Amino acid sequence: MPNFWVTLKKPILALAPMAGVTDTPFRQMCKRYGADVIYTEFASVDALTHGNIKTREMIAFEPSEQPVVCQIFGSKPELFYKSAKILEEMGFSGIDINFGCPAYKVVKSGGGVKLMRNLGLCEELVQATCEGGKLPVSIKIRASISKDVNTKDKVEDEDKLDKFECPVDKVTALDLVKKINHLPVSAIMLHARSYEQPFDGEPDLEMVKEVRKIWPGILLANGGIYSPEKAKEILDSTNVDGLGIARGAWGRPWIFQQIKDYLATSTYKTLSWEQIKSIIIQHAELTLANKGDYGLIELRKHLAHYVKGTKGASELRAKLVQIKTLADVKNIIS
Ligand SMILES: Cc1cc2nc3c(=O)[nH]c(=O)nc-3n(C[C@H](O)[C@H](O)[C@H](O)COP(=O)(O)O)c2cc1C
Repeated sequence: MPNFWVTLKKPILALAPMAGVTDTPFRQMCKRYGADVIYTEFASVDALTHGNIKTREMIAFEPSEQPVVCQIFGSKPELFYKSAKILEEMGFSGIDINFGCPAYKVVKSGGGVKLMRNLGLCEELVQATCEGGKLPVSIKIRASISKDVNTKDKVEDEDKLDKFECPVDKVTALDLVKKINHLPVSAIMLHARSYEQPFDGEPDLEMVKEVRKIWPGILLANGGIYSPEKAKEILDSTNVDGLGIARGAWGRPWIFQQIKDYLATSTYKTLSWEQIKSIIIQHAELTLANKGDYGLIELRKHLAHYVKGTKGASELRAKLVQIKTLADVKNIIS
């Protein structure tokens, strides 16, 4: 099986993973509007290897989304090894390991950003995933973490706590990349913010440049890319191979095409409300087809994002967060 990463045209525009957001209808929309590679939301290796049906359903994808990378989290190498085979059998194009997420659901199992404080374990997890199957393996990391993740107050069972003590005050993306440099990792997505600034604040582009110097493989910068202008600025200043876009695509799946247009022609089209309405209906139809009526309830959060900035947005949003049927969506937006 060829490694899809090396077949993609640069700059590569990726839909970055967002738990609870990047479900199959949304991913299909992003692919339709220009994303080159699509990440699923994070899936637990414990759940995957125990045959958890909900997890399988959560990451199920349509062929039109390909190349799809399934993102996994956890902390046990043997489960990463087994997951690699499972994901290969499910038909994914790649596997991504989550080394950047601060969400409690992830760090309580010792996974996500907490792993950056245990570089030896990171190396083992990457190695196990590479050896477990034939899919290309990528990793998603953060700029740095300088204190331990605070899970103690949330975990009732003390025995479940990962007692690993990190010997240094601060671990950076550079440390992690140096540690896994010898392994056959295909791509890195660097969320250029520290653990201490989880989702806000300017991305640390100096860190992206430093990683670029030591990592010859595919490098995607992520964090704070909400416009084609910002996308170009980051591409030009860091020499990365592509970008990971998360919230910039939420309610705006067409941002990928806008970025491509801007890079090619220095200009891009802003969508009219008529065009946005048609995209909302496409998204709602896909949701109904893929997830049934319950999917429409989940669609509500997307609808709220689509209408951001439009005339009468708050009134529209108040109605859209109550929709139950496709007809409701159509009536409200028209
Ligand atoms: C609602 C939400 C869910 C997220 N879920 C994940 C996830 O499942 N895995 C992951 O690696 N990062 C996750 N992230 C982080 C994003 O992938 C991304 O790194 C971060 O939002 C910064 O990019 P942005 O500024 O383009 O949003 C999530 C972010 C948000 C806002």
